[in-house]
Amino acid sequence: MASCFHGYRGFCTALVLVSVLYYVSILYWSHASVPSYFRGTRLESGIGMGSNHPIDLLTFPLAWNHLSFPSNPPQKLLKIALFVKKWPDGRQAGGLERHALTLHLALAKRGHELHVFTTSSSNFSFPKYPYENLRFHLSKPTGAGYLDQALVWEQFVAQNSTHNPFDVVHTESVSLRHTRSKNVPNLAVSWHGIAYESIHSDIIQELLRAPNETQTNQLTERGAKVVEEIKFFQKYAHHVATSDHVGDILKRIYMIPENRVHVILNGVDEDVFKPDNEKGQNFRLNLGIPGSKSLIIGMAGRLVKDKGHPLMFEALKQIFAENSTFKETVAVLVAGDGPWGARYKELGPNLFVLGPLQTGQLARFYNAIDIFINPTLRAQGLDHTLLEAVLSGKPLMATKLASITGSVITGTEYGYTFSPTVDSLKKGLYEVWKDGRGVLEKKGKVVRERGMKLFTATKMATAYERLFLCISNGEKNHDYCKY
Ligand SMILES: *[C@@H]1O[C@H](CO)[C@@H](O)[C@H](O)[C@H]1NC(C)=O
Ligand SMILES: *[C@@H]1O[C@H](CO)[C@@H](O)[C@H](O)[C@H]1NC(C)=O
Ligand SMILES: *[C@@H]1O[C@H](CO)[C@@H](O)[C@H](O)[C@H]1NC(C)=O
Ligand SMILES: *[C@@H]1O[C@H](CO)[C@@H](O)[C@H](O)[C@H]1NC(C)=O
Repeated sequence: MASCFHGYRGFCTALVLVSVLYYVSILYWSHASVPSYFRGTRLESGIGMGSNHPIDLLTFPLAWNHLSFPSNPPQKLLKIALFVKKWPDGRQAGGLERHALTLHLALAKRGHELHVFTTSSSNFSFPKYPYENLRFHLSKPTGAGYLDQALVWEQFVAQNSTHNPFDVVHTESVSLRHTRSKNVPNLAVSWHGIAYESIHSDIIQELLRAPNETQTNQLTERGAKVVEEIKFFQKYAHHVATSDHVGDILKRIYMIPENRVHVILNGVDEDVFKPDNEKGQNFRLNLGIPGSKSLIIGMAGRLVKDKGHPLMFEALKQIFAENSTFKETVAVLVAGDGPWGARYKELGPNLFVLGPLQTGQLARFYNAIDIFINPTLRAQGLDHTLLEAVLSGKPLMATKLASITGSVITGTEYGYTFSPTVDSLKKGLYEVWKDGRGVLEKKGKVVRERGMKLFTATKMATAYERLFLCISNGEKNHDYCKY
């Protein structure tokens, strides 16, 4: 496909081909492998054929993000309990916490009554939000930093015993343990990394291990962890997979019945992450990036080993040494915190190591780059930085992990993928460089168009809202389970 991208006409032909293939495959698939009621649904991918048979959402096999939900809040507002180990502490937040924040602020904004059961932290002053319907119930974490289950359950029961019990309970991963969740039918758990997908990370780490580094037991222990998870995952009523790949694992390997597994891909704030050329240019100017740089590469996130930074460091080092033109024309912006920030500086003035950025600055950062690269080795959940770059209209380059290739970089029109080896990464970098800014800009437009359908915070929040309405306590809610 890459050879089709020489010049604009070739690009268009490729696009048409891709859409036709997609259309044909969906048509074939919908006739061949799913019940007839599914034909002609109002999928946003544009296969509308006007069938009146509603979809049963609970068994809908694709990501709910492909559907469109009303932008107005529903008539029935929900009382929602959220269990989350830690509420995000600004820019330090990991994926699970950011998911909790983005989703539940959006739900509070839509008028739902949110009760967040989370740990208090002595390190930062707890943030204040302008929503009266968003309430926090803090408790001291256990020694290991988890939610004290007895304590939060007591808080929960007190809130649930009022005249107004909870309609639905949501837990981010195992924040609420299976010992408490097992008898709660109106509960959904969101997974941000399960043991089976981590096996891929273990394999990669073992392959990348230097001969003088000691072998860890992770790879051998992971199989037992999977079996353990398969047993206790059954004790959560409903499961939300944050990538298509995990949806498949939960149904196939973890053997959870299909009507209890729902795929809702992560979303990020579309009002924050959006294209803004001028802001991007100013960002470059402020950094003093010379105009001679024809390719600006961006990376963001924790700058640690398991995010693939040793690999990226080595690939850049080798390319800089073997090709002076590449070195002269490329600038690399690195946002984030971690030991590899200092190492990158050793590569010379092409590397702009920016440290951790606040959200507004991060949005400008994405606008300043031509391509976003995420060399992560962690096959867990769905990385938020990729989605932020997508909504900013930037093409992507990332490791061939199933969550990424299955949900985000699903074709060459959205970017580039590589195997986690220095050689494969170098090959990818050269390819991006040869394609150049023009091709990348075109890919960026296609990327954003798809991203605005699938990866906005609004899409994520309305999909969860619909799921919560569907599984909430009450008799007439099965209407919400139809689409
Ligand atoms: C609080 O800060 C200390 C030291 O800086 C750190 O070790 C600890 O992990 C922090 N705790 C939280 C909950 O962030
Ligand atoms: C919450 O209260 C309702 C109403 O009393 C009850 O039916 C439900 O079982 C309670 N939920 C839990 C998890 O205790
Ligand atoms: C392994 O060897 C490399 C290079 O020979 C060295 O830089 C590194 O520090 C060594 N690591 C350990 C854990 O000994
Ligand atoms: C760098 O790579 C490009 C593309 O492969 C090649 O045309 C060029 O000659 C190389 N330059 C150097 C200095 O090796």
